[in-house]
This record gives sequence, structure tokens and C-alpha cells, in this order.
Amino acid sequence: MQEESTTPVDWVALRKDFPTAENFCYLNLANKAILPRSVEQSMQSWMKDIYENAGELAFSMGEIEKTREAVADLYGAPPECISLIKNTSEGVNIVAQGFPWNEGDNVVISEFEHENNTFPWRHLERRGIEIRMAKPGEDGRVTIDQYRDLIDSKTRILAVAWVVYGNGYRADLKALSAFCHEQGIKIMVDGIQGVGILSTPFSELGVDVLISGGHKAQFSLAGAGFMYTTPEMTQMLMPPYAAKYSFNTLDRTVQAPELETDAHRFEYGNPNFLGTWVQRRSAEYVKSIGLENIEARVCELTTYLIEAADKHQVQVRTPRPWAERAGIVSLDLGQHAGDAVNALKAQDIIVAEKDGHLRTSMHFYNNEEDIDRFMSALQAV
Ligand SMILES: Cc1ncc(COP(=O)(O)O)c(C=O)c1O
Repeated sequence: MQEESTTPVDWVALRKDFPTAENFCYLNLANKAILPRSVEQSMQSWMKDIYENAGELAFSMGEIEKTREAVADLYGAPPECISLIKNTSEGVNIVAQGFPWNEGDNVVISEFEHENNTFPWRHLERRGIEIRMAKPGEDGRVTIDQYRDLIDSKTRILAVAWVVYGNGYRADLKALSAFCHEQGIKIMVDGIQGVGILSTPFSELGVDVLISGGHKAQFSLAGAGFMYTTPEMTQMLMPPYAAKYSFNTLDRTVQAPELETDAHRFEYGNPNFLGTWVQRRSAEYVKSIGLENIEARVCELTTYLIEAADKHQVQVRTPRPWAERAGIVSLDLGQHAGDAVNALKAQDIIVAEKDGHLRTSMHFYNNEEDIDRFMSALQAV
């Protein structure tokens, strides 16, 4: 985060873009984002094009390219490295199914990973690929040394969350990428809990693949996500699905049709036109606010919550340095958090229970009053 490059943003005015924030104390971004009015306007403009223009733009592949460019521009990646795919699971499956495995190879993940960055790998076990799971430390981190203990000459991929959905721990992707490449293995990132909040350009992270579904901090729709693959990784992966848009020819009779050389190869039939329409406009909306500003604001809000938890002697499970967390702060209530989550919900305070603990998660639409309201209600439940 480059503090000096941030510019003042009117967060009070921006919060007004989110009608849900008026009705709820919504601290559950890690589940799904509440959406700004601009998303409703985007959906309406898509329908308007169907009514008034017979869907000329609404179903246009040219518009899809504009979405690719907007996503690439926002997250600091070349457009040819971005494929527009459904969700995280689809991307992880493209990597898992498309990688040139040899029997006996292994993949290293950790017990922190979400189901959707675990089961696509477990599915490979029936093909003779071994899945090795690092056990996180008591301090809520998975270190390079913990991964190192599992890696051997048959390890081909390390698959890791940018930000862990349970306790909110953020991996140091630059260090992990350098480590993986020294070991001669590829690194694939489940980025969904970091994308839209963290500002480091993808091309500076050093990772081979970064995938994100759309329905969290990007303000896209579920079903409209993306995958970033480096040119080398793009070439290495054989798309598990291929159709019209995966090939560089539309001639159905050509001998040995060739796959697209860039990330288009992972796309196939008609895309999610409405979802990508929204995805582009939401990428432009996030860009207009600035990812660095968003990161700085989310850092401020989450730090405020951590300090409030300290004041009320509620134990914080998330590692504290900003470099090791993002929008999630997980709290240990000393008992299973399910009842507290339900009691808060009855007061329109929306948080989640994960691993038996209470998870809060924030975006720039939250404010300090949300956190005060949550904390005082928590004391009373
Ligand atoms: C870390 C993580 N990965 C993946 C997902 C979701 O996967 P998908 O985008 O395939 O629905 C979530 C939550 O929805 C998540 O928190």
C-alpha cells in the first residue's frame, strides 16, 4: 500500500451508493458484497439495450473485450492474461484438469483453504495425484517453512488463498512466489478475499495464476469472475473445455485447429453477458475510487475494529500487521459463535460464523458507526 499516493475520498458520500447500508450493519463482505446503485443501473442499461437496440451491445463479444480490458486495467495485468470465467471453482478446475501431470506428482495446499480450493484438487486423487495439506500454526499463519516440509521433487503446484476466508490471514504472495519458483513449482492463488481490496498489481505479485469469483469486493455478479494466467502458464494449461471461442479459427473443417495462444483459450461458448456487463462497469467504479484508497480505508476500518475488540477484551484471531490481513477480522468469543451471530442478525447486524468463531468483514461502504454498533451489541448478547 502506497500511503503517499492516496487522495482524499468522500467515504460518506460513497456509502450513500449502497442502500443496504442504510438498513443493515453489514459486516459480511467475505460472504458477499452488498451492491451499489451503479450495479442496478448497469443491469437496467443491459435490458434497455435489449428493448431498444435488440441486444446489439448486450450480446456483443466486443463488449466482452471491453470487460477484459477494464479488469486488466484495474488489477494491473495485461488483458491477454485475463480470461473471463464463472467463478473461483471454475478457474481452479481449469488449472487442476489442464496441468500436464505425471502420475505420482503432488499438489501442496493448506487446511486453511476454502472447499473450492480444496475439492478440485481432491478430485485429482483418482488420477494418482497426491494432495498434501499444510497444518496452520497456532498463530493463525502458514509459513514458508510449513510448506517447505511438504514439498519434494514431485511437487508441481502450491495452491494458496491470498486471504484466508476463515481467520483472514493474508499470504505474502511475493515471498511465496519467489520461494515456489526457486523450488521449480508453480503457484496458483485463490484471490477472491483479496481482489477489490488489495492494491498490489497482479503482475508485481509474481504468481502464475490468480483466480477470483465476482460476488465479493469487486461488485461483479456471482457467475462473472476472472482468471489471471501468465503467458507461460497459459501455454502450459490444456483447457479442459474448448469450443468456438477457445480456438484461433472459426473454420470447422480445418485440420488440427489451434487453440488461442492467450487466455481466450479458457473461454468457450456464449459468456455471461449480463454478468460481464456489470463486471466491467463495477471495475470502472472501483477504479474511479482507486484501489489504493480502498486498501487504506479498509485498513483503517479493520484496525478500528481490532482496537475496539482489544478495549472490550474480545480476542482477535486475525494476525495484526496490515501486511498479514485484509478485510476480515475474526474474533474468538471463547465459545461457539453461532448463537451470537444469530442474536446479532435479529438486530440487523450481519456477521458470519466460521470455524466456530465470529467473522467480520468490511469494505469501504462500512464506517466507524457500524463497528461501534456491532461492538456494543456484541457486549449485550
Ligand atoms: C477463499 C474462497 N474461495 C472461493 C470462494 C467461492 O468460490 P466460487 O467463486 O467458486 O463460488 C469463497 C467464498 O465464496 C472463498 O471465500
